[in-house]
Amino acid sequence: MSRVAELLEALAPIGRNAQGGYDRLAWTDADAAMRRWFLAEAESLGLETEVDRNGNLWAHWRLRPGAGMVVGSHLDSVPNGGALDGPLGIATAFAAIRSLQEAGDAPPSNLSVVAFVDEEGGRFGLACLGSRLATGAVDPERARALTDRDGVRLDDAMRAAGVDPDGLGPDPERFRGPYVELHVEQGHLPIDGSDAAGLAAAGAPLGVLSGIWPHGRWRIDLAGQANHAGTTPMADRDDPVVRAAAVVLAARDAAVTEDALATVGRMAVEPGAVNAIAAVTTLWLDVRGADEARIRRVVARVAAEAEVEPVEESWTERTDFDPMTSGAARAAVREVTGREAPVLPSGAGHDAGVLAAAGVSTAMLVVRNPTGISHAPGESAEPADIELGVAALVRVIQRISVYGVVAPA
Ligand code: GLV
Ligand code: MN
Ligand code: MN
Repeated sequence: MSRVAELLEALAPIGRNAQGGYDRLAWTDADAAMRRWFLAEAESLGLETEVDRNGNLWAHWRLRPGAGMVVGSHLDSVPNGGALDGPLGIATAFAAIRSLQEAGDAPPSNLSVVAFVDEEGGRFGLACLGSRLATGAVDPERARALTDRDGVRLDDAMRAAGVDPDGLGPDPERFRGPYVELHVEQGHLPIDGSDAAGLAAAGAPLGVLSGIWPHGRWRIDLAGQANHAGTTPMADRDDPVVRAAAVVLAARDAAVTEDALATVGRMAVEPGAVNAIAAVTTLWLDVRGADEARIRRVVARVAAEAEVEPVEESWTERTDFDPMTSGAARAAVREVTGREAPVLPSGAGHDAGVLAAAGVSTAMLVVRNPTGISHAPGESAEPADIELGVAALVRVIQRISVYGVVAPA
């Protein structure tokens, strides 16, 4: 079995649920097990390990003074997520380092692997929290006060996991070199300059992302009149679940009209009794698209048609990855696959996008996902494609070092 296959196999039982998916939400026991695995694997490679002020994990291959290149991804998942979104980037990074070490081929710059904490926002609602904190994109006070579905505050969850939340805050010095993230492909988005949608249709095992679509999350609170299911005439009801249904349908219509993507993937119905009309319903609306204007139009249409007031919980600007670092990634893909790298956008958010928005020179490689399914147990990639991903990552590390990509100060 290849090194990367062994690494992924070691992770396979951690946080696995009865549906075959993964529950590895931030600062839970499963997350802690993933984090222990990271530190143990890094130490077995002789790397220097560190937990930074925001709880992100680091493994450094320090060769000389000064900044270096960073590769990485995240270890947490959405509820009932797939095996690869996040861990694939970490496992391939460690396998690439092993491959370089075995070849006696130390890169001519320092190299670090980072595992960003709470990339999915699956527990506390704000995605890419570790990178947003590191780049100063989120106020530490706001982060500490985020709560999960059970009302547990982020700072309490961190403390319970043994990490001091008082240290949260900007940490830009760590990102003076380029950042490269390898990820499983998510969806089948159109490839630039081609009719093919997704790597499978293009017959390509690897691709390079051009950038990330803008993305927002909104919360909609609907209050009604709680009452008895068996005694309240239909005409007399003020049922917030019925209004929630109107929001869901309005979101779908608006997204189709605007050629965008709108999802209500979470809804809370309170108090949640089968035999009572709900008192309150809360929905979370996720909207993405090729540009900000159409996303804003979707949200405005939902507000007008369903007569609701969406409250913005997060907004992430469109990001374009750096041409120079992406050029190194494209060259690496060309070398290992023998063909030009397909270039495609991402509808999924990534820490790489947060870093790029903060001025870090960033690129992303993607490994073909035959079905495109992600954030669900069906997420997959072929072992042979993952191997090519490791080989491409090795070449990116070598190329970026050789060409000495100049990082922003
Ligand atoms: C994170 O993966 C997101 O796109 O929401
Ligand atoms: Mn991810
Ligand atoms: Mn994800």
